[in-house]
Amino acid sequence: RILILDFGSQVTQLIARRLRETGVYCEIWPFDADPARMAAFAPKGIILSGGPASVIEEVAPKPPADVFGAGVPVLGICYGEQAICDALGGAVEGSDHREFGRAFIDVTADCALFEGVWARGQRAQVWMSHGDRVTALPPGFRAVAVSEGAPFAAIADDARRIYGVQFHPEVVHTPDGARLLANFAHKVCGLAGGWTMANFRETARDAIRAQVGTGRVICGLSGGVDSSVAAALIHEAIGDQLVCIFVDHGLLRAGEADEVVRVFRDRFNIRLVHRDASDLFFAALEGVTDPEVKRKTIGRLFIEVFEEEAKNLGGADFLAQGTLYPDVIESVSARGGPSAVIKSHHNVGGLPDRMRMKLVEPLRELFKDEVRELGRELGLPETIVGRHPFPGPGLAIRIPGPVDREKVRILQKADAIYLEEIRNAGLYDAIWQAFVALLPVRSVGVMGDGRTYDFACALRAVTSTDGMTADVYPFDMSFLTRVAGRIVNEVRGINRVTYDITSKPPGTIEWE
Ligand code: XMP
Repeated sequence: RILILDFGSQVTQLIARRLRETGVYCEIWPFDADPARMAAFAPKGIILSGGPASVIEEVAPKPPADVFGAGVPVLGICYGEQAICDALGGAVEGSDHREFGRAFIDVTADCALFEGVWARGQRAQVWMSHGDRVTALPPGFRAVAVSEGAPFAAIADDARRIYGVQFHPEVVHTPDGARLLANFAHKVCGLAGGWTMANFRETARDAIRAQVGTGRVICGLSGGVDSSVAAALIHEAIGDQLVCIFVDHGLLRAGEADEVVRVFRDRFNIRLVHRDASDLFFAALEGVTDPEVKRKTIGRLFIEVFEEEAKNLGGADFLAQGTLYPDVIESVSARGGPSAVIKSHHNVGGLPDRMRMKLVEPLRELFKDEVRELGRELGLPETIVGRHPFPGPGLAIRIPGPVDREKVRILQKADAIYLEEIRNAGLYDAIWQAFVALLPVRSVGVMGDGRTYDFACALRAVTSTDGMTADVYPFDMSFLTRVAGRIVNEVRGINRVTYDITSKPPGTIEWE
């Protein structure tokens, strides 16, 4: 395995993604991780990530001193390369010639990183993002590539197996970058690359059995990807020692509650408590218009019902959660201080301390796409595994203003038509999230010879990689008008359709 030390780059996670795609397990730790913990992890290679700092500054973050003396191969990326040079006796200077974005490098020598990818004399496209640059190499190093802005665009010390690149091999804008990282892992570090989801499934299963013993595990199932995969995996490990609780708030998309029951109870034979609590939720939401009050009301009630059902079962020793790796990474770039609360998120996992149970979190080491792969491996249907993200508070936050059953019913119909058209057009997987929001606005329309006075709705579709930022999906106008025509014709209660063309920021993906 490989250890990635994070110096705060926005794209550090991509290094891990690229390595794992080649079958090599890796973890991301902060650059100042405890050396004893590092030694215990016993990595076969270390990667120093990029970062926003400048090694010229006095307070610049430094790699741990023993990183270079342990005989373990090291690759420094961008700031990581500069940190190597700074630490081992080279020189780094600020430069007038900054390089941001696409750049070209000339390969000037052979190097283990380039084997089978770039030949000497070749020009290659890379992605750069740096102000400082290396101006003198430490003893033992040689330059293996140059760019206009960086005389040492790639450097190597073959004897000590320490390498540095000024560009970012982990981003897609360095088209050959993934192969360079694979070379580092396979050729330099000698890792075979057997980390696959099939292997993960087996080890995770054993680990769950070892952790749980004969204890009982409860799991909140929401129909979302993470809790579904966690439940299927835990069930495979411990069978009926797992009981799933599905708190149905009546705010799911059309048909999804039935699907959860069908898949988990009927197909997987998982013990499942399906609690239809929709009456409670609609009663509590009556007249609530403020988005935060809505979120908190749903969150609180969810926990109450979950606790009640857990108690009915006679309690449990463990609580299963679908925590993913991005929630676990101790992010260096997030150390910047308190950030504003835009929305209070509600997740199935967010249970209070008083439900003190030990946690079973079998997905803690996985990224979202890996969880999907594991789900497929476990035989979960594509409709669940490939599903767009869906917020815990459900359709309530897609209905600005007061929520009631009738509005939810209208929204479910419109949403189902929109998603059906997206699927039929083959666009579902190209879109991060697509949904309809039912607006608290009525407008006048004409149908046949009659006047209508019904709700307007907004279609939303965005592309994103993590939900933090998002771009509007550029549908053809003909697609949008087809969807609008169907919704107005088929959904009683809606007579006007708009398309939301706001990116995030400044908008958010959901309306509330
Ligand atoms: P926003 O609206 O903040 O949403 O741009 C970003 C992503 O988060 C999802 N979302 C939630 N997910 N519980 C969740 O599990 C929540 O309370 C919640 N609110 C928003 C949203 O669907 C989008 O993918």
